Amino acid sequence: MANDDLQRFIDELRTRVSIVDVVGAKVKLVKKGREYQGLCPFHNEKTPSFTVNEAKGFYHCFGCGAHGDILKFEMDANGLPFMDAIEKLAHQAGLSVPKFSKANAEHAEEKKSLYDIMEQACLFFEKNLYMPVGAEGLKYFREKRGLSDEVIKKFRLGYAPNNNGLMAHLKSLGIDDKDLNDLGLMTIPEDKTRKNHDFFRNRVMIPITNKQGKIIAFGGRVMEKIEPKYLNSPETPIFNKRRNLYNLDKARESGYKEKKLIISEGYMDVIALDRYGFNYAVAPLGTALTEEQILEAWKVTNEPILCLDGDAPGTKAAMRSVDRVLPILKAGYSIKFLFLPENMDPDEYLQAYGKESFANLLTKTKPLIDILWQKYTDGVDASTPERKAMVEKTLIAEINKIGDLTVRNYYMQEIKSRIYNAFRPKVAKSEVKPVQNAENKVVSKIGFEPRSGAGDKYNRFDKNRYNKNNQRPAIGHSFSSPEELKKNVNSETDKSLRFIVAAEFIYPELIDDYEEEIFIDDIKDENVRNLQITLADTYHEAETPLNGDELYSAVMDKTPHLLKGFWEIGMLKERKPFINDLRKNIEKLLLENKIRALEAELKEINELLMKDFSEEAYIRKQTIQKERDEIIKNATDNPD
Ligand code: UTP
Ligand code: MN
Repeated sequence: MANDDLQRFIDELRTRVSIVDVVGAKVKLVKKGREYQGLCPFHNEKTPSFTVNEAKGFYHCFGCGAHGDILKFEMDANGLPFMDAIEKLAHQAGLSVPKFSKANAEHAEEKKSLYDIMEQACLFFEKNLYMPVGAEGLKYFREKRGLSDEVIKKFRLGYAPNNNGLMAHLKSLGIDDKDLNDLGLMTIPEDKTRKNHDFFRNRVMIPITNKQGKIIAFGGRVMEKIEPKYLNSPETPIFNKRRNLYNLDKARESGYKEKKLIISEGYMDVIALDRYGFNYAVAPLGTALTEEQILEAWKVTNEPILCLDGDAPGTKAAMRSVDRVLPILKAGYSIKFLFLPENMDPDEYLQAYGKESFANLLTKTKPLIDILWQKYTDGVDASTPERKAMVEKTLIAEINKIGDLTVRNYYMQEIKSRIYNAFRPKVAKSEVKPVQNAENKVVSKIGFEPRSGAGDKYNRFDKNRYNKNNQRPAIGHSFSSPEELKKNVNSETDKSLRFIVAAEFIYPELIDDYEEEIFIDDIKDENVRNLQITLADTYHEAETPLNGDELYSAVMDKTPHLLKGFWEIGMLKERKPFINDLRKNIEKLLLENKIRALEAELKEINELLMKDFSEEAYIRKQTIQKERDEIIKNATDNPD
């Protein structure tokens, strides 16, 4: 294929032409260690935050986030069209550009890019918000959310009507079904007797942009009080939930200047924060904060502030972020935590208490080490030497997850001193430094007496409470389903998710462990998806921790139809597996799912590249390939 040849030719240019030469022709570069530094040509600056890495063939600006290779630099910094940039680089490399790729690339340039289509969709939603059909949506934004037209415009909020209007509109612009489906704008029902329809219907729309400000996805919110509140674009060739942060394009500039970045939980929080002058807020995209997102946040500032509800789910989200961030900590970089008073998100807090009060909270953040300490000591009974030893061991095991040696050593020092102070004989309780939230309410203290009442839901030392009597050895996940149910299992991924959901009914604490690894939107089987949502909700809402049987009957009461045909639950129950064996299995399945997802993404992007070559997609392809290879390599290096 001609496009393959073009790609190969660009690869050849990358190996032949030095990025330092290309950038150096325009920017004065100074060698600093392994990299070169200079003043960024893409934004105004007095001190250099622009770096060039010869080995990797990339430039990167820590100030404005500009990033790319030789080809992108020629296009963006020197303003050359795609083919001219290739021509120029080829000349530098002493090569001539093959004819076939020329024609092809020109064709690619003519075609509407996927970004253009998303832009058209956004314009459509924006327009509809102000038409009669969108009246309800406009009322929702103005009255229910208190947004001005200025804010609506700034965040390009819109409305998706219920009449398949988007499909009709985009088709009239000559956009085909394949692109609409690839972008998650149109649903093609599996049932061929049903007609294609708009993916987003009767929702207010929040566009999601990439770092360059191009629209890559949407979040659509229902206006009534029904769950789930949001429907988000699926993963597409241009949208990856794990790698993007909502509003980063707007937030990064002021965040970089102010040396602040607030990471809140939701879209509406970001919009509210911006409205009250905190114009350096971002949010993950319907999932917990990922490692990739933390790395992005660190490009803006060293210590982004994670802003969470002060209630149980918020605390849990904090704990999960601790798990994410420990391995990637490096000197000078961390995350800080801000817990809002019970049951309030930033949006609600700002509306209730205003700007000054929130600004005051921002000065009362807690460092990561406090949260780590809280995670493993809060409510933990450390009344015997064995239990104290367990606390110490667990904390040290956690600290050993820190990749950076220097940071790890300092953590070790500090934690050891905290342990010493907390466990020192006859310590008066007042000497134990309590962990406090922003309102100075004590949220954690190391306990010397067992907590009264039932076991704490978050007590890590109580994990195996349900399997005392189990005698069955490890089980594999290679079971075969009864014939009549096979047709319900859409894919390998769904099959493994069925297994995981079933396992959660045996040991509900697995919900805590894996909830965030399971991307709800990835579950194609609607029954399984709803079951996972229901069972997690039921589990979290329960006043006291539910065991497997209790969880099962609670879900049975609520939604018996979801459990119908779920034969894996009975199968697992009979086998009486150990929880740790299930964990191993689940981790393996999740890893396989992740690799499968990346491979699907690669396949899609390859197809995209074939018909619509863009340098952006090409770079993405390389990133995904690298990620997949690393996962596979890690898995083979550490088979457990
Ligand atoms: P929240 O439930 O905290 O909602 O979800 P919110 O942001 O406060 O929304 P409002 O104020 O009720 O409108 C936080 C984020 O989690 C994702 C969205 O990204 C949301 O902004 N989410 C939530 C979903 O993707 N789907 C849902 O059904 C709910
Ligand atoms: Mn909210």
